[in-house]
Amino acid sequence: MMPDTPTKPLRAFTAIESEQIRSLFPILGRQIYGKQLVYFDNGATTQKPQRVLDSIQNYYTTYNSNVHRGVHFLSQQATDVMEDARKTIQEFINAKQAEEIIFTSGATESINLLASSFSQLLAKGDEILISAMEHHANIVPWQMICERYGYHLRVIPILDNGDLDLIAFDKLITPKTKLLSVVQVSNTLGTINPIKQLIDKAHQNNTAVIIDGSQAVQHLKIDVQELDCDFYVFSGHKLYGPTGTGVLYGKKNRLEQLPPYKGGGDMIKEVSFEKTTYNDLPFKFEAGTPNIEGIIGLAEAIHFINHTGIASIANHEADLLNYFTDKLRAIPGIRIFGESSNKIAVISFLLRDIHPYDIGVLLDKMGIAVRTGHHCTQPIMQRYQIPGTVRASLAVYNTRAEIDVFIDALHRINKMF
Ligand code: ALA
Repeated sequence: MMPDTPTKPLRAFTAIESEQIRSLFPILGRQIYGKQLVYFDNGATTQKPQRVLDSIQNYYTTYNSNVHRGVHFLSQQATDVMEDARKTIQEFINAKQAEEIIFTSGATESINLLASSFSQLLAKGDEILISAMEHHANIVPWQMICERYGYHLRVIPILDNGDLDLIAFDKLITPKTKLLSVVQVSNTLGTINPIKQLIDKAHQNNTAVIIDGSQAVQHLKIDVQELDCDFYVFSGHKLYGPTGTGVLYGKKNRLEQLPPYKGGGDMIKEVSFEKTTYNDLPFKFEAGTPNIEGIIGLAEAIHFINHTGIASIANHEADLLNYFTDKLRAIPGIRIFGESSNKIAVISFLLRDIHPYDIGVLLDKMGIAVRTGHHCTQPIMQRYQIPGTVRASLAVYNTRAEIDVFIDALHRINKMF
């Protein structure tokens, strides 16, 4: 399967399968203001299955200890479980080697790490290419180093339907472009970018490529070797894992070329006041005590995804997207932002001239959680000249019945204004 596209034909989970999946997530049983919770804010963070919660509890109750530091039993157990988690992540994205997986606090830190390290390797006048649909986390770190060191930021525009402008991309990538950093899936528009095409083109130009997979890994099969990207970053909490966890994948030779980001314990071989030598990968980039509980929980979340099957998840969510989009389009006054033919189940919209915040507040009172506003993508709002959107972002445990509740709520809101 191409990693860019969900498997076809579509088959949603049966009612029994959905019920089984939902029963793994205790929070989904909650009521909000006396209404059954409908959680459609998965782009912001996903809910956690019981096995993730149990793994964290188990770590603290039976083998809590620091890693890579102790000769004692508990420390070795914690180290083994954490290093197993690294292998689980390696296999999940099909990295060649476990040391190509660096633990960070989230995709934001992964990108800041890359920006900080690359800032020491680029030369004045070099260009960094991003897209107009990036999350602020893939804009601001590059702006900061451009300002400080005299590099230039270039931006691939987006078309009206939310696709990247590939003709503009071809013109923007030049011998000066040393880095391309683009999102695989837009958190606001849902667009799945043709990243394989972008990576191949960039490599023909000797440009290193960073892919922000924060909104992709939970929805699509990722194979970093097939993609051939140089770096791939994501957060753990958007794929059913704990907050404060993230991954930076990098090809080994690329990571070896990069200077370290944070200094401290564990990232060194020898320290003296005259000279410090740095540790091998992955530890060179992992100064300080890591988020051990979070990493253990993240591996459990990946076991959940593997058990459910990423292709089945992609199919189910694609079915929900079609169902949702058809129902939404039938509501008078709806404007959808992001209508690519290749997108995930993220639906950003406006209803007439009702402010997105007002819609969000009213939905909340009906037990429905969505995100409203700019979704940390203000340039997208500027592109469409809108103040923000209402965003419903779906996940493995969502159902057609929840979409019906949502659509009914929107009809009621439409009548109120
Ligand atoms: N980046 C997250 C979102 O899209 C927080 O909501």
